[in-house]
Amino acid sequence: MKGCTEILIGAQWGDEGKGRVVDALAGKTDVIVRYQGGANAGHTVIVGSEKHVFHLLPSGMLYTGKLCIIGNGVVVDPEQLLLELQELQAQGKDRARLVVSRDAHVVLPYHKVLDGADEAFRGKEHAIGTTKRGIGPCYVDKYNRMGITMGDLVKPDVLREKLSQNVNLKNMLLTRIYGMTPLPFDSIYQEALEWGAKLAPYLGDASLEVHKALEEGKGVLLEGAQGTLLDVDFGTYPYVTSSNPTAAGGCIGSGVGPTRISRVIGVVKAYCTRVGEGPFPTEDLGEWGDYLRDKGGEFGATTGRPRRCGWLDMVALRYAVRINGLGVLALTKLDVLSGLEEIRVALEYSLEGKQYREFTPSASFLENVKPRYVSLPGWKEDISKCRSFEELPQEAQNYVKFIEEHAEVPVGLIGVGPGREETILRNF
Ligand code: GDP
Ligand code: IMO
Ligand code: MG
Repeated sequence: MKGCTEILIGAQWGDEGKGRVVDALAGKTDVIVRYQGGANAGHTVIVGSEKHVFHLLPSGMLYTGKLCIIGNGVVVDPEQLLLELQELQAQGKDRARLVVSRDAHVVLPYHKVLDGADEAFRGKEHAIGTTKRGIGPCYVDKYNRMGITMGDLVKPDVLREKLSQNVNLKNMLLTRIYGMTPLPFDSIYQEALEWGAKLAPYLGDASLEVHKALEEGKGVLLEGAQGTLLDVDFGTYPYVTSSNPTAAGGCIGSGVGPTRISRVIGVVKAYCTRVGEGPFPTEDLGEWGDYLRDKGGEFGATTGRPRRCGWLDMVALRYAVRINGLGVLALTKLDVLSGLEEIRVALEYSLEGKQYREFTPSASFLENVKPRYVSLPGWKEDISKCRSFEELPQEAQNYVKFIEEHAEVPVGLIGVGPGREETILRNF
């Protein structure tokens, strides 16, 4: 084994601050790969007074000399990708080389329409609260072996045949089942051809690119989107996304073999948030939840929706450590807790007189459990200027140590503000 591959995942329900941690690591690595999900993601990177939100592009795009890859496991909305590229180009900041896997599947307009129609069908009571980016329906087509890949966009005849089959079937669904108007084949086909022409220079054999980089002894970082508890296999099903954001998904979505993974990094927020529907045992619907939302700026980077907020859930975090094989944690937004008299952490759940220390991703179980909290003393000081662990107030140090003790994983990075410099590194 020559180069090393690290996988970075979200350890909660997404929006843990993965973008900023990738940005912190990108300088030290060579290749950054998005491996699953699509434009449902919103990864924020703040450099000085500039804010970049990446939906499809890997969060290493701002670095010169890096190779950024959109892997086979991603579902690509070409319109969104072109928009992101144009924005970066206009600012002269498309500094990395971009390769998009020919095997990544394409999100087409009918996927977004179906995403909305499926949600409407589920109704208020059962809606998932998706981002309506067409993610679920696109993965359905992939697994149903009907999908259109990025490589198909540059093969007009193949595209015509596959697209007409798809549009025919989707129009039957839309008109006969959902009572909606059919979608026009011609304009979708024309638009798809235009996407293909514009994106052709970026298409490539992504897994081979990663392999070559590893053979040259380079470092590879696989950037997960969403989070462990949104994983279709290990999350709070059915309130999940349609891919595997967990570490194992990194191998599938990039073509890197499991023996080449050297470390898995879990990004965890110092408290918890969730966007969309589904169980959230430590959610605080009172003043503390509002406090965290206001102070933490907890509004979706993709949809702008207010995020649901609550306390750190150690039961769920220990599950994320187990499912992902985490070797180190990156703890973000510690600064948001400054000013709180007490900080709560759930150490176990209780239900009908029984105590539970192991997380079970069953929605019906999680909807009914009551978290049992311990309370830790807070701190008043502004910590955003701290650059070493020892500079943190004693109570903040104790909070970090408490997390390490209960998660049984060291904290290697601490976010004390959203900016690139507002970071404490400890052997990371
Ligand atoms: P991602 O999807 O995991 O990349 O996270 P998002 O970008 O959706 O949400 C994280 C938000 O928290 C963004 O607005 C970041 O700028 C911000 N953020 C990240 N780390 C920190 C931190 O340590 N402190 C503060 N105050 N904000 C942070
Ligand atoms: P990043 O990468 C937070 C949530 C949606 C919804 C569920 C399914 O920024 O952390 P989908 O559109 O994927 O079918 O929606 O998943 N969701 C996210 N929540 N952060 C994300 O991405 C998310 N991507 C999807 O809100 O509950
Ligand atoms: Mg996000």
